[in-house]
This record gives sequence, C-alpha cells and structure tokens, in this order.
Amino acid sequence: MRVGIPTEIKADEHRVAITPSGVAAFVARGHEVVIEAGAGIGSAIPDESYRAAGAAVLDGPDAVWERADLVLKVKEPLDPEFERMRSGQVLFTYLHLAASRDLTTRLLERRIVGIGYETVQLTDGTLPLLVPMSEVAGRLSIQAGATSLEMRSGGKGLLLPGVSGVRRGRVTILGAGVVGLNACVVGVGFGADVTIIDIYVRDVVQGHVTTLMSNAANIEGAVASADLVICSVLIPGARTPRLVTRAHLTQMEPGSALVDVAVDQGGCAETSRPTTHHDPRYVEEGVVHYCVSNMPGAVPHTSTYALTNATMAYALEIADRGWRVAAAQDPALAKGVNVVDGQVTHQAVAAAHRLQGVALTET
Ligand SMILES: NC(=O)c1ccc[n+]([C@@H]2O[C@H](COP(=O)([O-])OP(=O)(O)OC[C@H]3O[C@@H](n4cnc5c(N)ncnc54)[C@H](O)[C@@H]3O)[C@@H](O)[C@H]2O)c1
Repeated sequence: MRVGIPTEIKADEHRVAITPSGVAAFVARGHEVVIEAGAGIGSAIPDESYRAAGAAVLDGPDAVWERADLVLKVKEPLDPEFERMRSGQVLFTYLHLAASRDLTTRLLERRIVGIGYETVQLTDGTLPLLVPMSEVAGRLSIQAGATSLEMRSGGKGLLLPGVSGVRRGRVTILGAGVVGLNACVVGVGFGADVTIIDIYVRDVVQGHVTTLMSNAANIEGAVASADLVICSVLIPGARTPRLVTRAHLTQMEPGSALVDVAVDQGGCAETSRPTTHHDPRYVEEGVVHYCVSNMPGAVPHTSTYALTNATMAYALEIADRGWRVAAAQDPALAKGVNVVDGQVTHQAVAAAHRLQGVALTET
C-alpha cells in the first residue's frame, strides 16, 4: 500500500503523523511511504531523516494526496484538503466528527473512508489514541502551573518545590485519570505537596500524596489551601462538571494558579474559558488561569513521538490487510471507522447529527 503524510495545515499545529521509525516499519513490510517536504520540521524532524528511513519526500501536498491509498494526518482535514481527497481513499487522523456537522458532510461528500483516532476503543472502554495526549497534557500541566506561579505571569512568585527552610507549594489535582495521575507523578517529582481528589480514590504513589474522596467539602478545603489547582475531571460524553466555583477562588491566596486541562470539554472551573498558546493566561479573582485547549501543541516533538507510538500499530494493520479486513479482525479499529463511502458508520456521530447510521458490515 502507498502511505501518504501531508504537512498539517491547522493553525499552531506542529505535530506530524509519522516519525522516521514509522517510515522504516512501513517500508520493512513492503509498503511505500510518501511525505510532504517539511512535514516534520515543526516536530524537529528533518526531511533527511525521513529519506534515510526510506520515504520519498515530495514537494507540496497535492502529490502526496494524489499518490496515497492511506493518508495519515494528525488533525481533521480543512480546506483545501477536501478537494484533494478521492473516493475510497482511507484517512486516519483525529476527526471529532460528532462535534462538526460541516466536517461530517464534507467527508461524506468525498466518499472517503474516515477512521478517527479518537473513537478507536478497546473492549474495556479505553481510548488508546487519546491516552498519549492526556499523558502529555498531565505532565505539562505542572510545568504550566509552575510558570503561572511566577511573578512575571501574575503569580504570587512561589517556587513550587520550595527551598531549604521555605515551604514547598501545595498542588490540588481534581480528577485522578490519565491527566491527573500524570500531573501527580510530575508534581511529586517536582517536590510539591500534592493532594489528588477523585470519585474513585487510589493511592498511586504510595503515601507520597494525599488522596481525598470527591465531595463538596473536600473540594472546597483543598482548593482554598492550594497554590496550584489542576483540573482534570472527565465524565465521558458529558460536559465537565463545574467543581470549582468563583466563591472557591476568592478563598485562595491572590497570585495562586489554576490549570484547567479539562477546558476542552467545557472546563472544571466556573471561571475557565479556552485560551491559546499565544495568550495562554488571564487572571480572575486574583487567580492566574491557564486554560489552553490543545496543551500538547506546546511540545510537538514529544507529542509527535507519543502519538505515533500509539497510532502506528493500527496504521500498520490497515496497510497490511486493507482497512476492511483489519477492522473485521480488530474490534478496536472497527470502532474507529466513522464514515465509509458516503455513509456514517459510527452510531454516536450519526446520532449527533440526526443522520441515518449504517453498520460497518452493511457498507
Ligand atoms: N487541554 C488539553 O490540551 C487536553 C489534552 C488532553 C486531555 N484533555 C482533557 O483532560 C480531561 C481529562 O482527561 P483524562 O484522559 O485524564 O480522562 P480520564 O477519563 O482518564 O480521567 C477523568 C477522571 O475524572 C474523574 N472524575 C469524574 N467525575 C469526577 C468528580 N466529580 N470529581 C472528581 N473526579 C471525577 C474520573 O473518575 C476519572 O478518574 C478531559 O476533559 C480531556 O479531554 C485536555
């Protein structure tokens, strides 16, 4: 199969859908890889590394789309990418179709096979192609919070680990899932005094953190005493619950910080609104808010490797067997198939747009 990787064109997107070792894996199995010149630059991967791994580096996106049977991307397609698609071509990328009727319609019109990273799902419910980005965001959240506590960011000028004779910072993490636990591990590594709150209480770092059951009193107390609050709560399929109110923030010391990682699902604090890497922070009730909705974009090199570590196994399945056989043999991949030849094959996407969905086997 011929695998194509265009440069991402979404604003501020610097990841790329393949690494040189991914190219080598395809080539070793007899596939051909074509990649757009410069596609890896934002992730600090030069064209030469792709060439050395066996890819053909092509100028411009048209040649890549034209030649590829399987297109690997990171973000959803945008204009002018739709015109480059052809019927039956397989697109494997983050799609988030339930959130966009327009994008769904465009893909149906182009009659491609759209496989969304975000809906590939294991039998235990895990979303393996979302986990790596949650890991990145969780680990980054402590870094973002530590910077937010610096004076130049509007913070109280507190060094999170403290120093000899001076107290360390107190971090409260709401939600002990992938983001929260990764924040917890880095927070402890930073030397901070970490409290983590969830509806399922688990002590993952054996006594080095305080674990609390999620209830109104515990949240109020742990937020009021925190220098840094990390919000990482998720209720799948629902808006993030507003666990941190404006009144809670008024009880925090001025210059404290709040990193709302869950802002992409609506945010966990009443005062949260999405921000960008260009203007990541604002202050409300004296608390520095960091609410960047695509945090992994700050570290595209790490994010590219983390993402492709997870996507490559599925991409190889598709290339080796063809998408239809691969999906028939792997139920997790089958859940990733969102649209086929003008029909919606993912029930949640069909329901979101009141469209008639069809079973994959009926396409
Ligand atoms: N901003 C970004 O760039 C970025 C990147 C990755 C993930 N995210 C977002 O971060 C959020 C967390 O993602 P995740 O992968 O860690 O999800 P997850 O499902 O692994 O974890 C969510 C946790 O929230 C807990 N929870 C649910 N209700 C709760 C409550 N009332 N009180 C306390 N805890 C509660 C759950 O028990 C679970 O442990 C999601 O909204 C995700 O979209 C954002």
